[in-house]
Amino acid sequence: MKPLRHLLSMDDLDRDDIDYLLDLTERYVEVSERKIPRIPALRGKTVALVFFEDSTRTRVSFATAAGRLSADTLGFDVGRSSVNKGESLRDTIETISAMGIHCMVLRHHGAGAPWRVREWTDASIVNGGDGRNQHPTQALADLFTARRHLGDLNGKRVAIVGDVKNSRVARSNAIGFSKMGAEVIFVAPRTLLPASLEGWPVSVTHNLDEVIETIDVCYLLRMQLERHNGAAVPTLREFHHEFGLTAARADRLRDDALIMHPGPMNRGVEIAGVVADRPNAVITEQVANGVAVRMAVLFVLIGSRLDLVEEQSAVA
Ligand code: NCD
Repeated sequence: MKPLRHLLSMDDLDRDDIDYLLDLTERYVEVSERKIPRIPALRGKTVALVFFEDSTRTRVSFATAAGRLSADTLGFDVGRSSVNKGESLRDTIETISAMGIHCMVLRHHGAGAPWRVREWTDASIVNGGDGRNQHPTQALADLFTARRHLGDLNGKRVAIVGDVKNSRVARSNAIGFSKMGAEVIFVAPRTLLPASLEGWPVSVTHNLDEVIETIDVCYLLRMQLERHNGAAVPTLREFHHEFGLTAARADRLRDDALIMHPGPMNRGVEIAGVVADRPNAVITEQVANGVAVRMAVLFVLIGSRLDLVEEQSAVA
C-alpha cells in the first residue's frame, strides 16, 4: 500500500490500501488468538490515547492493539486534565507530544479537529472519531467483519439505517463500503439525514420495509440523542416502529444477511433487544475485529515510517 502518515478519513484510503489493511488484519486476528497474543512489532514506540469525548470500545480497543504489538501507551483523560484549567487544544497537544510519542489517537467533538492537530505534532495521527465527521477505524473493522462473512463485497447491498445525520460511523462506512464496490443505501426519516447528500456515493430511502428483503447488510446506527437539537423524531417508540430492526423485520432478512451495529446499542430503539442476540448479528465480532484492525493501522503508520527507523538506528 502507499506510505501513510496519518489516518484521518476513509477518503485517505483507496481500494488497494483497504485490501492491504484488511489482509494484514487477518494476520493480527491470528496473533490475537494465540495463547500469548503479543508480538514485538512496535517495541519502543509510544501511542498516546487522547480522548476528549466518551468512549468505551474505541479507547480500550486501541490500548489493546498497541499492547499486542508491544508499544507503550500514554493515556490522557480529559476529565482529569489541565483542559479543565483552561489549557487550549494546541497547548495540550504540544505538551503530550513533548513526552516523545510516535502516534496519537485522537477523539474530539469538533469535526475536523485531527486535521488541525496534525499541524502541531510530529506524531502520526489516527482519527478515533471527530464530531459527526469520520471514524475510519470503525469502518475498517466493519468492512473486515462483513468481508469475513460475505466474501468479496463487490455488488453487495448495504443499508445504513437510522440517525445518519449525526453519525460519523455512517459517513465512514458509506465511503468504505462503496470503495469496496458495495451499493450503499441510507435509510432514515428526512429529519435524520444531512441537509445535502450531494457527492455521496449512496442512494436514500425513507422506507426500511422496501429494502429489507434485498440487502446483504443491515447496519443500524445508534440514535445519537446527545447530538440532537430538539426532537428529530416524534417519539423513540414511533422511530422503533418505523425504522428499528424489529423481530418481524429481522425475520424478513435473507438468511445470510448480517446485522451490524457499531455500539453502544440502544436496545428497543434502533434494534430490538432479541434481534441483537440472533446468530446473524455480528456486533461482538465487530468489537473483536476492531482490535486486530487497529493493530494493522498502528503498524502501517508507525511500524514502517522511515524517519522513525532512522531515529531508532541512531540510538542503537
Ligand atoms: C461510535 C462513535 O463513537 O462514533 N461508537 C464507536 O466508536 N463504536 C458510534 C456511536 O457512538 O454511536
